[in-house]
This record gives sequence, structure tokens and C-alpha cells, in this order.
Amino acid sequence: VQAEKGGYDSFMLKEIYEQPQAVRDTMGARIDRENKRVILPELKMSDAELATYDRIYIVACGTSMHAGLVGKDIIEKWTRVPVEVAVASEFRYRDPIYTDKTLMIVISQSGETADTLAALREAKKSNVKVLAITNVVGSSVAREADEVIFTWAGPEVAVASTKAYTSQVVALYLFGLYLAQVKGTLAAAEVATIVEHLETIPGKIASMLEDAEQVRRFAESTKGINSLFFIGRGLDYAVSLEGSLKLKEISYIHSEAYPAGELKHGTLALIEDNVPVVALATQPDIYEKTVSNIVEVKARGAHVLGFATEGDYDLAKTVDEVIYMPATLPMLTPILTVIPLQLLAYYASVARGLDVDKPRNLAKSVTVE
Ligand code: G6P
Repeated sequence: VQAEKGGYDSFMLKEIYEQPQAVRDTMGARIDRENKRVILPELKMSDAELATYDRIYIVACGTSMHAGLVGKDIIEKWTRVPVEVAVASEFRYRDPIYTDKTLMIVISQSGETADTLAALREAKKSNVKVLAITNVVGSSVAREADEVIFTWAGPEVAVASTKAYTSQVVALYLFGLYLAQVKGTLAAAEVATIVEHLETIPGKIASMLEDAEQVRRFAESTKGINSLFFIGRGLDYAVSLEGSLKLKEISYIHSEAYPAGELKHGTLALIEDNVPVVALATQPDIYEKTVSNIVEVKARGAHVLGFATEGDYDLAKTVDEVIYMPATLPMLTPILTVIPLQLLAYYASVARGLDVDKPRNLAKSVTVE
């Protein structure tokens, strides 16, 4: 087993460090480098058919559902198609509103999660077209869906999902761009710019992984704490949900992710002296709003670790510590922001002497309801 971990202390750490490769492989041949656009040769349906869909459900569990939340923002922004994200265990018992122009996307690393599979089967019974994003060739989800986009993350062993998430997010970027091309909702030049930036993401992840020291120190400082909060707006909020889940899963620290602007409606009551808050402020259009929420938690004594984009040295004036994300398009930041959040959970777990790869009560793949 030690050898399989490739010199790392745990599968999770190994998988965190495999992300540049996982992301690169998932983009792989799906980017037409010459024309700077996306190609998805695996899709069986025609472009004409794809263009007809005007409503999307994304259905998944856990981390895969969190990738779906990023996917919602991407697809809506680039294609103007309304997307609803649902937890599979809820969705399967709902009475969803399907039209003949509804597309369902299921996301599952393993392709075997019982609730996700059940939701897929329900949709198929209603003749809804199902596109799967999965990491396992030959899995039930891959076999039963009408269309499949594989993530090429390689086997993921640790219970806490890392490289599967970033690969799923990449698959959603590719799908979102492809749908935009087909629907004509983005100009070729806009697609080209996004594609160019996408291609620099693996290198940026690699550079972030080179320096984990600051996150490690912050994680160590959480050793005695019982509760931690994540705040952010928009895409930062979507990523903070994943950061919070990671932390809960492997460090057993209670944590909540909150849309920064919603704090004042309740959660702010929990902020007192020295409560750690991780505040994500990478989205320029709502930056000032997030900063004003950070000021509110600071005023109540919170110890704030801020996430800012390289070049934004203003945030340092408001927060206690800052981690800088390499600059990229705001829409692409989630795939970078999640890296230090994964490391935070990892180091918090290590600091508490816990089994990082096999957290209590949890399974890698939940194949029963
Ligand atoms: C379990 C795992 C999670 C995972 C979820 C969905 O709860 O512990 O890490 O996100 O299942 O799994 P899937 O294989 O469907 O992505």
C-alpha cells in the first residue's frame, strides 16, 4: 500500500498532487488547439439536437453535487440555459418538471452511487435524455446514460474526493463551452480566450501545490477549535461549500459555508472572538460586497483567512492572513480556489492525528440508499 501511495503519506495527498495531470488529461483531446474551441467527439447526439435543450437539471451527491453548483453558474452564464442543481436523494422522489427540451446531467465519480443511479433511471423512464459525467468506464452510470463525458482523473482511492472534483469542474467547463458554441451564445473570440486560459490552469494548480506552507500553518492553528466558517459570494460560495464538506469529512471540525451576504440573517450570531473564518473574495463583480461582510465578521472578533487574487493586495488590510490565487478569468477561479481548501482539510486532519483516507462513518462510494 505504501508503494501505491507513491511516496505520499496518504492517498488523499497523492491525489491532491495529481490534479494538474488529472485536469490536463480531462481537457486532453477535447480542445482543438488550432481553432481554440472545444470538441466533444464522444457525444452521440447531433449539435442540432444539443442546441434544442433549453433547461438542464444537474443531479449528483456530495462533492460531485458541489461540482454541479459550479457547473450551473458556468452553463447559465455562457449559454443562458437555466440550470437547476439537485441532490440525488431528493430529486429521485420529486415530481420534476420535464419538457421534451430538458436535459439531465448526472455527475458521479464512481458511477455507482445508488441515489444518483436511481435519479438517472427515473429520468430515463420519463424519456429524458441523460448525460453522465463520470470517472469510471464501465460503471453503471456510464452504461445506462445516453451520453457520457468521462473525467480522466485516474482511480481515486481516498474517501474525500479531490482530483475527481477538479476534473468534473473541467468537464463542465468543456460542456458549457461546447453548448455555447452550438447555441452561438459566445462569440468565437470569447471561446478562444476562455480556452487559452483553461490551458494554463494545470500549471497554475501545480504552482499552488508547490507552496502549501501557509495553509498548513493555518490548519495547525485550528487544532483546538470546534467550529469554522467559510464565506463567499457567487462562485466563491459554491467552492466554499466544497471546502466546508472536505473539512467536515476528514477533520470532524464542525463547519458551515455561508453566502457572505446571508450571514446577517442568522449565522452572524455564531461569530465571536477568535472564531476562524475563511473568506473567499476572488470574484471582481461582487468583491466590495464580500469585503464589507468580512468587515462585519472581523468586528465581532473573527480570525479571518482571506483568499484573494494575485495582484489584489487590498484585502490584506481587512483580514488577518491572505492566500493569493494565481490570476485567471473569474469564471475559472473555482478550480484554483479549491486547492488550498483541500489542503486545509488535509492538514487539519493530520494535525488532529486522524486517518485522512478513511474517515469515520463514511464510504468512498455509497451503493445502498
Ligand atoms: C460519497 C463519497 C463522496 C462523494 C459522494 C458521491 O459520499 O464519500 O466523496 O462525493 O459519495 O460519489 P460519486 O461517486 O457519485 O461522485
